[in-house]
Amino acid sequence: MSKEVKSVDYGLEKIFEGAQDFLPLLGTDYVEFYVGNAKQSAHYYKTAFGFQSFAYKGLETGSRDTVSYVLKQDKIKLVLTTPLNSKSPINDHIVKHGDGVKVIALWVDDARKSWEETTARGAKSYMEPFVEQDEHGEVVRAGIYTYGETVHMFVERKNYNGIFLPGFQKWESDYNPEPTGLKYIDHMVGNVGWGQMNTWVKWYEEVMGFVNFLSFDDKQIHTEYSALMSKVMSNGNGRIKFPINEPAEGIKRSQIEEYLDFYEGSGVQHLALATDDIIRTVAELKARGVEFLPPPPQTYYDDIPGRLGEHMEMMKEDLKELQKLSILVDADEEGYLLQIFTKPVEDRPTLFYEIIQRMGAKGFGAGNFKALFESIEREQAMRGTL
Ligand code: FE2
Repeated sequence: MSKEVKSVDYGLEKIFEGAQDFLPLLGTDYVEFYVGNAKQSAHYYKTAFGFQSFAYKGLETGSRDTVSYVLKQDKIKLVLTTPLNSKSPINDHIVKHGDGVKVIALWVDDARKSWEETTARGAKSYMEPFVEQDEHGEVVRAGIYTYGETVHMFVERKNYNGIFLPGFQKWESDYNPEPTGLKYIDHMVGNVGWGQMNTWVKWYEEVMGFVNFLSFDDKQIHTEYSALMSKVMSNGNGRIKFPINEPAEGIKRSQIEEYLDFYEGSGVQHLALATDDIIRTVAELKARGVEFLPPPPQTYYDDIPGRLGEHMEMMKEDLKELQKLSILVDADEEGYLLQIFTKPVEDRPTLFYEIIQRMGAKGFGAGNFKALFESIEREQAMRGTL
């Protein structure tokens, strides 16, 4: 039933062939993390990644049970939430998973209809449509569960002109590090358990009306030691892309298994953040202490002109400069892309970030998978988890 759409046009009005329009999504609204100490996490995302103080909810604003910091950089909004007492169910999430993504919120025109259409197609409800109001108007939100304990919230904000959501105030801070050039979320990847990838592919097709437009099997994604499989799901206008990974049999424990063991279940593996100047962005992130995976071997860079072929001529960046920053390069029929991956950003080897610059390419760096995973395996070996 999976429809493979070969040529992908990300033009905003283009509806993928096969995608359903019962769930029009305007874009990603926010990504909410449940964390042990939101104040310190917020400091990290400001200092290291250049996110800006945007909105706040906590004791000072009348929120007695939870505190949330909203950080913004261009179109990206991250919400960091911590419980203020032991009774909050958020504690259970943190005890089980460590710091991690709880909510991938999707911006919609009609949250009630989004919830009705998806639950009618089999989604498990997380929150029935709920109206929140303040002096700036009203927001309607509703939520459904996806893989693991992860949730999609539908956010309807057309009748709201406040800073973020009712209950939040503008967050004024004297500490405002410069942005690092991150623009929007390119894609968000989920890791699911053995044999579950196709279950979730089908779920995104049937419940959300997404299409499967790229697939990678374990013959394409493997190293000497381990393997994984991945399918990329996209909504109709191409703005929301969710690759889904599952582990595959190998001689040693794959990075997906390591994630599932430490996250204790399925969850969000990485967020890919787009920049239009990856050299500047990555140089800045490195200077601010963001840790990236170790560089691929010299032969990786020696092979690039051969791998890129005709795209090599259109490449604006200096290969030496890319190598200096350990940025990876890949190409498909339509262009090339530049990408790099951070180490996990918490002590459990779970969530990490990808920084990506697309120069026409619509893929996900398949040509880099081997070099990338060998690099991850060297890190796993050091953790004793390979
Ligand atoms: Fe990615």
